[in-house]
Amino acid sequence: MLRTTSLILSLGSLLPLLPFTSAISGLLTDPSQINGQTFDYVVVGGGLGGLVVANRLSENPDTSVLVIEAGSDNRDDPRVYDPYKYSVAFGTELDWNWPSSQGRYIKGGKTLGGSTSINGLAQTRGSKAQYNSLSTFLNGDDGNGKWNWDGMYFGMLKSEGFSAPNNQQKQAGASSNPAYHNTSGPLQVTYPDGIYHGPQQQYFKTVVSTNFSVASSPDADDGNANVVAFHPNTMSWQDSDHRSSSATAYYTPVSERSNLAILSQHLATKIQFNGNKATGIEFGSSGDNTRYTVNAGKEVIVSAGAIQTPALLQLSGVGDPALLNSLGINVVANVTGVGKNLQEQTMNSVGWTPIDGFDFQGQGPSDVIAYPDLLGLTSSSNNDIAATISSNIGRYAQDAYDAGAVVSVEAANSIFAIQQDLMTKQNSGLVEAFFDSGFPNGGLGIDLWQLLPFSRGTVKITSTDPFTYPEVDPRYFSADVDLQIQTAGLRMARKIFQTAPLRSIVTEENAPGYDTVPEDGQGGNDDDWKNWILDGFSSVHHPIATCAMMSENLGGVVGSDLKVYNTENLRIVDASVLPIQFSAHLSATLYGLAENAADM
Ligand SMILES: Cc1cc2nc3c(=O)[nH]c(=O)nc-3n(C[C@H](O)[C@H](O)[C@H](O)COP(=O)(O)OP(=O)(O)OC[C@H]3O[C@@H](n4cnc5c(N)ncnc54)[C@H](O)[C@@H]3O)c2cc1C
Ligand SMILES: *[C@@H]1O[C@H](CO)[C@@H](O)[C@H](O)[C@H]1NC(C)=O
Ligand SMILES: *[C@@H]1O[C@H](CO)[C@@H](O)[C@H](O)[C@H]1NC(C)=O
Ligand SMILES: *[C@@H]1O[C@H](CO)[C@@H](O)[C@H](O)[C@H]1NC(C)=O
Repeated sequence: MLRTTSLILSLGSLLPLLPFTSAISGLLTDPSQINGQTFDYVVVGGGLGGLVVANRLSENPDTSVLVIEAGSDNRDDPRVYDPYKYSVAFGTELDWNWPSSQGRYIKGGKTLGGSTSINGLAQTRGSKAQYNSLSTFLNGDDGNGKWNWDGMYFGMLKSEGFSAPNNQQKQAGASSNPAYHNTSGPLQVTYPDGIYHGPQQQYFKTVVSTNFSVASSPDADDGNANVVAFHPNTMSWQDSDHRSSSATAYYTPVSERSNLAILSQHLATKIQFNGNKATGIEFGSSGDNTRYTVNAGKEVIVSAGAIQTPALLQLSGVGDPALLNSLGINVVANVTGVGKNLQEQTMNSVGWTPIDGFDFQGQGPSDVIAYPDLLGLTSSSNNDIAATISSNIGRYAQDAYDAGAVVSVEAANSIFAIQQDLMTKQNSGLVEAFFDSGFPNGGLGIDLWQLLPFSRGTVKITSTDPFTYPEVDPRYFSADVDLQIQTAGLRMARKIFQTAPLRSIVTEENAPGYDTVPEDGQGGNDDDWKNWILDGFSSVHHPIATCAMMSENLGGVVGSDLKVYNTENLRIVDASVLPIQFSAHLSATLYGLAENAADM
């Protein structure tokens, strides 16, 4: 009784404050409903960053929020909700599939939920030192305690709705420590009902921890990530193993809010400015030259991901004047770092054929991952990675500058010094060894990628047509230590399969195979590995840093408040602001970053 009364009272006192735009809500596709309207916040991109921010901002009923998403709502499409259909969405209308250099394509979700609607569901956190380095890129400014381990851990916990492994998942090897998890956040994080019960995952963990100087951990979410462990997935076994995406976790439960609208199937084509103050967004749909506008009463927040965010800024006159001038675009703000510092990882998979009749005993997704650090990686290889880095770092900086991928040699030297410290002194995982049941060639495999490339690349628009994809050049392997680390990791992957008890459940290597990379007793020679790597590597689909959160002298685009330098009312919340890769998949870190952003 009391409660009802106070509810009525508080609603009554709020009513006169509701903005008139609150009538516009729900999931819309008709642009005329939005054209000319005003929302407090206009968010570009309904992916990971965009939907976290839209959810949290619209918690306040007085705040109106619009999200503009290029893709459609495909939450009820099995290619999206069913993790066993991983990769079926690739190359379809659900995937941006940006061409990049060296013939490699970078995938990204073009659908509500963005890349979290098509990704591999691995939920992993990086290491403490890596989160602490975020403030080092900002000359020590940790954004009031947000950009360090404690602050990011807090944000990551806020997003997490963890379910500890049940008995059948524990029997299959899964384990967790409740101290490092939150059970009541929106994102469903747990282990698959279809978890593999065959011996393969536990054998991999045993071999890596027994023979390769990589510690085994019961739960790697505590900030000590350079271990081998079972990791959870962004899914729900209580809900038939369906995917938990930023759309299902952060939009579905609040889709009835009268102050939250999403316009799908429309591309933001330009940020509108009055001077250097962002005032709204121009948008349209492909194959149609009509442009509409919507006004932002408070702020424009760009969350279009690490490829499209720098492109939208450039189209809008925010970027390097040299590029903008060459396309005849009026310079609104000179921010030379836009589209620079691109970092992408490179993957190759070692595959072995299981023995006759071997049964994976489950459907997956796979859960066991090793993140060997310098010590772990060099335990199985003579490669002196630390020496290569220290003797070439100046050359990498000059090369990145010559390629237009950093703002100055000085900036690159400073950035690379932080990275070198993380890699050679702070035990960051240097490669990811993702143990895979069913891939490649339907057998057992290790998907292997160099986590922390020194190669730096660019994203640049080549046209003033917003529907034309930007040119994406990660400059894969332009720093030779990246190839050296990739080689050391693959050699380690081969040796892992050669070691008992894993060896007892496989017959022979089918990728690359001993014909392609002959076994010489040392795991194969560098030249053979190099040829195979360069021929067959793919992108890991983890692009970052094209609008990095760094100080201006390093070529940063946003400061610790995520506001774009030399502009007003414009923020970025997505993977483009991460200044450096983490020894982890990206989404756990980005959910934490977006929660922290919404808190501002
Ligand atoms: C194939 C694949 C597998 C992956 N596997 C994993 C994994 O297993 N674990 C993990 O943690 N991470 C994984 N990731 C990475 C992770 O999903 C992404 O890093 C993360 O989703 C990026 O978040 P974001 O907010 O930057 O962009 P996104 O989540 O990609 O969201 C960007 C959104 O903006 C929209 N958009 C772009 N431009 C415009 C525009 N101009 N106007 C309107 N809308 C626009 C896009 O359509 C998209 O919906 C994977 C990614 C891919 C692609
Ligand atoms: C768990 O998540 C809820 C919802 O996001 C949040 O309110 C709470 O503070 C989180 N708990 C911890 C320990 O972070
Ligand atoms: C792996 O380690 C175990 C335990 O130390 C040892 O018995 C075994 O010989 C090692 N295997 C190889 C291939 O070195
Ligand atoms: C843009 O800014 C950079 C430094 O931030 C400066 O060196 C450059 O001269 C500026 N360019 C123009 C055209 O103002």
